[in-house]
Amino acid sequence: MSEPYTRIETQLVHAGEPLPRIDGAVEMPIFQSATYEYAGEGSYDDVRYLRINNTPSQLALHAKLAVLEGAEAALVSASGMSAISTTLLTVLSPGDHLLAQRGLYGGTHDLLTREFPRLGIELDFIDADRADSWADKLRRNTRAIYVEAMTNPLLEVADLPAVVQFARAHALTSLIDSTFASPVNYRPIVAGFDLVIHSATKYLNGHSDIVAGAVAGRAEVIERIRHKANHLGGSLDAHAAFLLKRGLKTLALRVRYQNDSALQIAQFLAAHPAVAHVNYAGLKTHPQHARARSLFAGFGGVLSFELKGPAQRAEELLARLRIPIVAPSLGGVHTLITRPATTSHAGLPRDERVRLGISDALVRLSVGIEATEDLLQDFRQALQ
Ligand SMILES: Cc1ncc(COP(=O)(O)O)c(C=O)c1O
Repeated sequence: MSEPYTRIETQLVHAGEPLPRIDGAVEMPIFQSATYEYAGEGSYDDVRYLRINNTPSQLALHAKLAVLEGAEAALVSASGMSAISTTLLTVLSPGDHLLAQRGLYGGTHDLLTREFPRLGIELDFIDADRADSWADKLRRNTRAIYVEAMTNPLLEVADLPAVVQFARAHALTSLIDSTFASPVNYRPIVAGFDLVIHSATKYLNGHSDIVAGAVAGRAEVIERIRHKANHLGGSLDAHAAFLLKRGLKTLALRVRYQNDSALQIAQFLAAHPAVAHVNYAGLKTHPQHARARSLFAGFGGVLSFELKGPAQRAEELLARLRIPIVAPSLGGVHTLITRPATTSHAGLPRDERVRLGISDALVRLSVGIEATEDLLQDFRQALQ
């Protein structure tokens, strides 16, 4: 029977929840059990065990995330990096070649450049803004193309429709890390991507209290990723699964508020005389503003900026702000602020980081759900 709803706000609350409700409980209980009574399962991947990713909380999350993404199936994992590594290790084998967007999240960049060469997986970075430059990078062993919905921390928006077309034309698997957009702002599977990945640590959970990951796509591919995950072992713990499912229920409310608040703060910073420039796709000055407008329902809650003057000014600003917490990560209810040079991109050699446009002075802001006016007032006093 089809569901009596089609909109994301209702899907977030109801999709995938067990029916009939367990003992009438309005919220699904925490299934704090590692293993389950044997019921005649035939294969290793059917044995009901927390690491095998088939316990009640995991299955409910898989069903909910598949509906949210408009995908056939989904899988949750112990972190965003476990979703990324397990997915890529399923799609790619030794001897295969990957095309990846330049300027990816630092952890993904390190995985591709430091771990994958040792496994015989070849890599070329592409300028994801220039679709006409990609064909030159193709090799006979190219298998996949990997991009992010918005890059971290520069908020660049790749030519995502061209990525989908290019992948189809050359029989590649298209993968996108859509952490920054969340399904509220962008639904990559509906737009034609083969696989969408999230660090569920960020917007999906939204409360900065767990680490989790997710991947969604065609059922047959997700099943292969699950088998790989069962061997690699990065499965989501029962209590974290409960928190993730609870956090998801308010995703639309949070993200829409954060879209709105971040836009106001970006506009305020862009007009402030102490600020050199702001990176936020919602600003008309952003080089890919028109593209972002046509692809996304909102521009997200993360922006980055540089102050005029020496890099040390950035540190002074961080010390003077009273509401944003100086901490890595993003997408939660608390406003967090960092210098990527010392956190998400600290692993990159300085030359390479600066070449990517991530200067020592760059500040990244993840806008939470506090009152926008309180945040603006805090920036006003700190920038004075
Ligand atoms: C875009 C993006 N993808 C993946 C990750 C990794 O996620 P996790 O920390 O949940 O492993 C991050 C973390 O900051 C991220 O920003």
